[in-house]
Amino acid sequence: MKICRTRAELRQAVRGWKLAGETVGLVPTMGYLHEGHLGLVRLAREKADRAVTTIFVNPTQFGPNEDLDTYPRDEARDLALLEAENVDAVFMPDVTEMYGAGGDTFVEVPGLSSILQGALRPGHFRGVATVVTKLFNIATPDFAVFGEKDYQQLTLIRQMVRDLDMPLEIVAHPTVREADGLAMSSRNVRLSPEHRQQAVALSRSLSAAEALATSGPEIDALEKAVRAELAEARDGDVQSVDIRDAETLAALSGPLKRPAVVLLAVRFGAVLLIDQRVITPRSVPGA
Ligand code: PAF
Repeated sequence: MKICRTRAELRQAVRGWKLAGETVGLVPTMGYLHEGHLGLVRLAREKADRAVTTIFVNPTQFGPNEDLDTYPRDEARDLALLEAENVDAVFMPDVTEMYGAGGDTFVEVPGLSSILQGALRPGHFRGVATVVTKLFNIATPDFAVFGEKDYQQLTLIRQMVRDLDMPLEIVAHPTVREADGLAMSSRNVRLSPEHRQQAVALSRSLSAAEALATSGPEIDALEKAVRAELAEARDGDVQSVDIRDAETLAALSGPLKRPAVVLLAVRFGAVLLIDQRVITPRSVPGA
């Protein structure tokens, strides 16, 4: 496994593979890898001749009061996990290598950046779109894999790739969960044991929405059911419950008539957890 700390090193590795006619799959991450990430890595490994993972805690997607400094990191463990998955290259630049002295140009998807998580975290998606564009330009992959867990991020990256004619495919990987249903996240380790137990309310509330959805309920009733389950988590500070069109993230009202996504953001102390599930009314063909 090649460890590339500079853009030039990764470019050189990828150039060699492409000259040999090999395909390249990319998995961008911020490190502190867990089974959720490894699912993305395995999919890239399966679909491409060469799998590249990036590890970069991107400062431009953190707000001034967010957890950039305390974001968990463990380089040695991450590298051992990726080696075990037969990853071909890991790109792990530092901030200077990634942004240099410049850093004055940004990529923005204004509509999708300013709603939902974007409204709670101003600037976050601008930072994501910019760093992901840079990673695509440096690694020039045939496809990149993103988790459905970060549903808004996935939707935004799909739109960016479409709008800017970026020459790669975006592949989605379903959310990987702990045995009790909690979506895997690097932030889970920062939950107290008590909060860890309560956090299972997120996936429970999504299952409640999924069960209700088949009968085509009113969106308001769905939201009420989700909030009732979330209320079981005593210390959970519900930041948002949103039920949106699964493809465009447009707001919905009235009865559920087409696939929707339920998006949750709940804070436990300093830890913000998100989760999502696509729900489909029974009347939709193929549901
Ligand atoms: O999902 C993440 O871990 C990050 O937002 C990403 C896509 C690696 C960009 O920094």
